[in-house]
Amino acid sequence: MASFSCCSFVSGRRACWGLSKPMPRRLEIRGLTRRFGGVAAVKSLDLAIDDGELVSLIGPNGAGKTTTFNMVSGLDRPDQGEILFEGQPIQRLSPEAIAALGVARTFQHGRVFANLSVEDNVLLGAHTRLRAVRPPLPVVGPLAELALALIRPARVKREEAALRDEAREILALFGDRLTPRLDHPAYSLSYANRRRVEIARALALRPRLLLLDEPTAGMNPTETDEMQALIASLKARGMTILLIEHKLDLVMHLSDRVCVLDDGAKIAEGTPNAVRNDPSVIEAYLGHSAVGRAAQSAEAVGP
Ligand SMILES: Nc1ncnc2c1ncn2[C@@H]1O[C@H](COP(=O)(O)OP(=O)(O)OP(=O)(O)O)[C@@H](O)[C@H]1O
Ligand SMILES: [Mg+2]
Repeated sequence: MASFSCCSFVSGRRACWGLSKPMPRRLEIRGLTRRFGGVAAVKSLDLAIDDGELVSLIGPNGAGKTTTFNMVSGLDRPDQGEILFEGQPIQRLSPEAIAALGVARTFQHGRVFANLSVEDNVLLGAHTRLRAVRPPLPVVGPLAELALALIRPARVKREEAALRDEAREILALFGDRLTPRLDHPAYSLSYANRRRVEIARALALRPRLLLLDEPTAGMNPTETDEMQALIASLKARGMTILLIEHKLDLVMHLSDRVCVLDDGAKIAEGTPNAVRNDPSVIEAYLGHSAVGRAAQSAEAVGP
């Protein structure tokens, strides 16, 4: 594991809101609803995450998990409800603005820039953090950024070098999976490595909230164990994580809390043990592959 310090990519900033005002939750979702025609993909969802928590969002296929991520990350707009990030409503902000606040996500089906190198994919994740090359000028900002990127004055080179060092430290978190492939184009990577690159890119944002959508999908048991260890290490460093996963063993090991969706609605929320013993959760999984294990687990920990 690299010596990359927790504080270098997990910002420890906590706003001081005075003695009388309570600290806002890292993320608070209130009454979130999203309909697609006649389908209510998410129905009046309430969910909150505090600093440093790892909360898992689980549920059968089509339960509304990814739709929730899409709304939190600004890719989709709710029909009703509120999404507060550190007390600020974000449900009408663009994905770029939400990323700039410190919300990073990965995608269920993996999205990398196929023709860019591993390192450049990760550097892209730090784009919202660039200062030297992105002057905060209205209207002419993008033109100024282009000019600075072409001319590359010393301060731009220094910033880029620092970010490259940081990108390599992040890639070292994945052991020798990615570091030997720094210059390889993403299209040449294995499926599992592309998923790792996506997570590395999300980490380059220095997220204050990390949304992981099925990070182990398509991974074999060894790769899944590695991913579990990586997520555990991010959690140990204080990162706040909202995780979607179908692999219930991993969910039970990593989560502080679990929120269970079924057919767009929250049917249970609590500690992993409480949730896996919840009859409505076991019933929701009936007919799904995880049921056997969910039911067995419930028996194993039952009274
Ligand atoms: N853009 C869309 N247009 C129409 N229906 C959609 C759209 N996006 C999602 N849905 C529907 O909303 C419901 C929830 O989908 P969602 O992708 O959020 O489920 P999920 O819990 O992530 O499932 P999975 O575990 O299979 O990834 C499903 O019925 C899906 O078909
Ligand atoms: Mg999904």
